[in-house]
Parts: sequence; C-alpha cells; structure tokens
Amino acid sequence: MKQSLIKFCLVFAAVMLLAVPQVSQAKELKGDLEIFSWWAGDEGPALQALIGIYKGQNPKVKVIDATVTGGSGVNAKAVLKTRMLGGEPPDSFQVHAGQELIGTWVKADRMEDLTFLFKEQGWMDAFPKGLVKLIGTDKGIWSVPVNIHRSNVMWYIPANLKKWGVEAPKSWDDFLKIAPKLQKQGIVPLALAQNWTANHLWESVALASLGADNWEALWSGKLKFNSPEVIKAWELFGKVLQYTNKDAASLSWQQATDMVIDGRAAFNIMGDWAAGYMVTTKKMAPGKDFGWAASPDTAGEFMFLADSFGLPKGAPHRDNAIAWLKVLGSKEGSDTFNPLKGSISARKDTDLSKYNGYLQSAAKDFGKDRVVASLAHGAAANETFMGGFAQVMEMFLKTKNAKATAMACQQLADKAKIGK
Ligand code: GAL
Repeated sequence: MKQSLIKFCLVFAAVMLLAVPQVSQAKELKGDLEIFSWWAGDEGPALQALIGIYKGQNPKVKVIDATVTGGSGVNAKAVLKTRMLGGEPPDSFQVHAGQELIGTWVKADRMEDLTFLFKEQGWMDAFPKGLVKLIGTDKGIWSVPVNIHRSNVMWYIPANLKKWGVEAPKSWDDFLKIAPKLQKQGIVPLALAQNWTANHLWESVALASLGADNWEALWSGKLKFNSPEVIKAWELFGKVLQYTNKDAASLSWQQATDMVIDGRAAFNIMGDWAAGYMVTTKKMAPGKDFGWAASPDTAGEFMFLADSFGLPKGAPHRDNAIAWLKVLGSKEGSDTFNPLKGSISARKDTDLSKYNGYLQSAAKDFGKDRVVASLAHGAAANETFMGGFAQVMEMFLKTKNAKATAMACQQLADKAKIGK
C-alpha cells in the first residue's frame, strides 16, 4: 500500500515536472500590444497602473500606450474612426459602455464577441446584470468594463465657500440666488471648459429639470426633444450659463477644475474623474481639501457611465489583447485602477477599503440611487446623435435660443433613430 502510494507520488511529480514548463511556455506572450485611449497626461496614472500589472504577467510583450489627448475622447474617437474604417484597428480600445459601443462599433460588425471570456473568467456573475446588458446584445458581449463613473457631481472647496459666505446649492434656484453674490466678490460661480463640458453640464441640468423618468423617456423615444419639458430644460441651461467663465471654450476640463481649486471659481460640475485628478495628481484630501454634492436637484439620482475596452475584429495581436482584457476584468486590476481613476469598480466583489472617502460615498449612492445613463459619455445615445449634439450645443452657446435648439435636437434624434 505504502509502496504503491510512493510510486503514485513519483509518477505524479514526474508528470507535473514535464507538464508545467510546457504549459507556461505555451502561454508566454510576445510581440506588441497597442492599447488605444484618451487617458493621456493627468488622466494617465490609473491606466499606467493597469499596464504595470500586465507587464508583470507578460514581461515579453511590448506595450504601446497609444493615447490621443482630449477629455471624453473628443479627439481620440475621431482618430479611432479613421483607423477602424481604414482597416488598421488597435489591439484594444477604450469605448463607453452603452450606445457608443453597441450603436456604433457593434452595429458596424467591427467587434469580436467576448462571451467566451466572460464565461471563462466568471464575469457573468462578477459584473452586475444591468451592466452586462449594456455591453451586450442578443448576439454577444462586446467589451470589458473597467469602472463606473458618476457624471452629476458638483465640486467645491469647503474653506472657500465659507470665506465667500455661501453653501453648496441643493437646487438650481439656490444656485441662481447665490451666483450674483459670488460675482460681486469677483468669483466665477460655475467653472466651465470646452464644448464637451457644456454637454456634460447640460445633462446634469436636463436631469434636474426633467426628472429621471422623463430623462429616460427621451432615450426610449417616448418624450420628444422638442416637447415643452425639454425646451424648459434648455431655458434653465441658458440661465445657468450666464454664470460661467467667458474663456470656457479654450480650457480643458482640468483647467476648469483648477479654477475651483485656485479659488477663481466656486463650483464645477464634472464627472468624478475630477476626484481622481484632485486626489491622484493634486494630492488633495476628499472631504477636507475638496467637497462634493450631487449636482443641483439631482440628489438620489446617479447619472452613470462606464469605460470599457473591446477587441476589434482584425486586432493585430489578438492573444496579447485577450490577456489585456483579462487584467481589466480582474478584481486585482479593478481595485488597482479605480482608486487612482476616481471611479468605483464595475465588479460586485470590490474591496472598498482600498477606496477613499469620496469613492466610498459614490459606491453607497450607486447602490441606493436611481441610476440613469449619461448622454455626454456614450451610455444613452449613439455616435450619430453625439456628433450632431456637439453642433447643436455650439448653436445654443451662440444663440441661446431654447426653442430652435430643441427643434434641431428632435431632427437629430430622428436622424440618429433614437428610441427606434
Ligand atoms: C470620460 C471618460 C472618463 C474620463 C473623462 C474625461 O468620457 O469616461 O474616464 O476620461 O471622459 O476625459
């Protein structure tokens, strides 16, 4: 009995010795991996941390971190389009979960189905069902989500508000009351940056004005963009814009955040990558050096978006890209990336002890709030609508004509087949 056990152990050990190197040799990846995103400069540290994990696992792969600067992907998305249509896809690219992915690249049949990876990695259960639905169709699952960002957040510096004798406004009515007081002290009430940040502000104002049900009705085609409710939202937006800085068009979103940090402006409405910027780049402490609140009239509502990465058909280094996607979807990857990025994990098993006070509060809100999709960051509408909406916004910024803008929006919605 004893002898046969020893014999068994020896045979087992020999088999293992032969088998293990073969397995690891077969798995060793080489060559390049080109990752395409807009997370350059100040937006880069979280991505760099993920690349660090990847390199640790795949030391022989040369990672090409191809970034095109420009918040919310304004420039990157144009470059990506040219490359995809020209038959030169990167190995993996950043894309927002929702219509930016499904209504654009999936519809054009340019993505690989990742269902196999979701099953193999246990991601069907690791990610919330609603999120998997957002990145999937009846034909497959099309990207790997790396985070959950919140769009409707108002940022401020508590000590400055105290100095100026104001509090963070809970409603737009409150804001419109305190804004002139701030202006009298030479302070810009609300810091704004280039065009896409106006879209970003608009979605918070529109959510406030319309309410969550009507916001969703817009995207399901049940509420027209030229309805009186939406015209009212544009009118409110026009009033709010009176209290923003005149040089907005020439500023990056970080520069608008800087205006708040430096005490030139009182508030800024921006996604919680602003928390990432203030904590990771500016080394500020949440709750002490900076404060936050749901954007006016949206407490209890969480306007959400998620960054994700997909695998385009014809990716030159497919295996390397799949290994990259595995890092993105892993618990380790997620809990390394998100605390630096200013987002919460898209996974259900996240370790919240790794997250700062702001992010813990965001995670709590995400668990209890009404969650609605962001327009400005690809969740609610396809790229046809988004591209056109940027022009509609230009028109409104110039004319401030709520009715004409609302009409133009409805024409655009028809063209983009919103709700169809
Ligand atoms: C969003 C993106 C965020 C952040 C932001 C500013 O669209 O989802 O991760 O990068 O743009 O560029």
